[in-house]
Amino acid sequence: MKPTTIFLHSQHQIAPVDERIFGGFMEHMGRCVYEGVYDPASAHADQNGFRQDVLDALNKLKMTAMRYPGGNFASGYHWQDGVGPKEQRPRIRELAWQSTETNQFGTEEYLHMCRLMGWTPMITVNLGTGTPEEARDWVEFCNIPKGTRFADMRSADDPYGVKLWCLGNEMDGPWQLGHVPADQYAVRAQQAAKMMKDVDPSVELVTCGSCGVGMSTYMEWDAVVLDYLGDLSDYVSLHRYVGNRENDTADYLAVTNSIDQQIEEMDAVCRFVQAKRRSSKRAYLCFDEWNVWYKNHQVDGEGVVAPHLIEEVYNLEDALVVAGFFNAFIRHADSVKIANIAQIVNVIAPLQTRGDELLVQSIFYPFAMYTKRRDGIALRAAVEGPTYEGKTNGEVNVIDSSAILNGDLLYVFATNRSQTESAPLIVDLADREIVSLVDGEVLSGTDPKLVNTYEQPDAIQPQAFSAVKFDGGKATLELPPLSVCALTLCLAPQS
Ligand code: AHR
Repeated sequence: MKPTTIFLHSQHQIAPVDERIFGGFMEHMGRCVYEGVYDPASAHADQNGFRQDVLDALNKLKMTAMRYPGGNFASGYHWQDGVGPKEQRPRIRELAWQSTETNQFGTEEYLHMCRLMGWTPMITVNLGTGTPEEARDWVEFCNIPKGTRFADMRSADDPYGVKLWCLGNEMDGPWQLGHVPADQYAVRAQQAAKMMKDVDPSVELVTCGSCGVGMSTYMEWDAVVLDYLGDLSDYVSLHRYVGNRENDTADYLAVTNSIDQQIEEMDAVCRFVQAKRRSSKRAYLCFDEWNVWYKNHQVDGEGVVAPHLIEEVYNLEDALVVAGFFNAFIRHADSVKIANIAQIVNVIAPLQTRGDELLVQSIFYPFAMYTKRRDGIALRAAVEGPTYEGKTNGEVNVIDSSAILNGDLLYVFATNRSQTESAPLIVDLADREIVSLVDGEVLSGTDPKLVNTYEQPDAIQPQAFSAVKFDGGKATLELPPLSVCALTLCLAPQS
């Protein structure tokens, strides 16, 4: 294969990479909370009932913003059910996933976990069956010093200071509890937003945008709600689940085209509304649910606690697509400020539990490879090299890539989408000399369908990668077929 060159210049900057694009999402769905992060009956439980093996594994991902409690669950959730003495909390028949919710894990357990893990809390209020005032009361519970009704319901003396709040979840979807047309959601969200900011002016709010590119109200919904909420919207949400439904790996790996497009379209509507309103305030993008999800459609909990729902098994090609999401976020660091992989354990997740066992799935690894190289400024790249045509996703570079500059370090991420050929790559930073490799990792394999199992837990895992040559200030390497590579390169000091 002919070489691909990634042309970079240290002054061709997109924006600093917001560390919050390495966020997660923890929903009261299936076995994400119960039997996932929280399981007092497990041999791995600490004194809080938190599963240490799961949290230790998540710790390696250095997740930032952790969205909670849903998802669709949020639209039927009344936060007061999940606070106060555990023995007094109600068992609820919940409707989003037809499960039984015991409420043994609620706001304060979540916020305690966030503190232990160093996660930034991110709470989705109920704008489906809940009221704007209930959302306001939740902000008081979390953020206001004691002395008034809802703050006094908190067991912790000091406020938690929750800054990030989502104004409902997927309210454009007819499946959502309390779904309404855009103009009605906009009124609800504006009322909630005003009261939430009245209680704590420092909160940042995420307005519900279109939850998918296939929605019939795509972009119209967003224009209406952003216009109505005006400067109350700090961010607008977008969601994306992708899959290899046609079993066409080449096309599946080209889905990055359509992720880029979705980001650019959403940014365009933000800019359109900003201009129309003649406002100096720009709403940024919050990609608060994203992942691969297409194989497992079990969404009916049949009335039980912690049912097995959408426990997707991930393979090598899925891991490459997850890397593609991160490349798209880094390439759009000027607009995408928050992103949350959905979800963190058991439910469409990088980790799975079975009793006291823990399995690390393929998609865990690209997250780990990117997150340890996330600090810095995203660089705009000109990529020259072989391309191919995906059946539905159009023409893409064989090598998908992104780059981050961090002082004298350059992080380069490159995915070879070819299933059969290795791909030569040249990294050329025009104004700086690339002199050496600090470290590198590659995740690769010959079978796109390869998975980790409890019997073979290490079938897919990254290997150290050191086969990088340096000549004339450029780095050259060869990416194996079906691989994602993350490199930390060292630059000659600037004179
Ligand atoms: O992450 C699973 C579900 O997918 C979420 O609850 C919902 O928001 C989306 O449709």
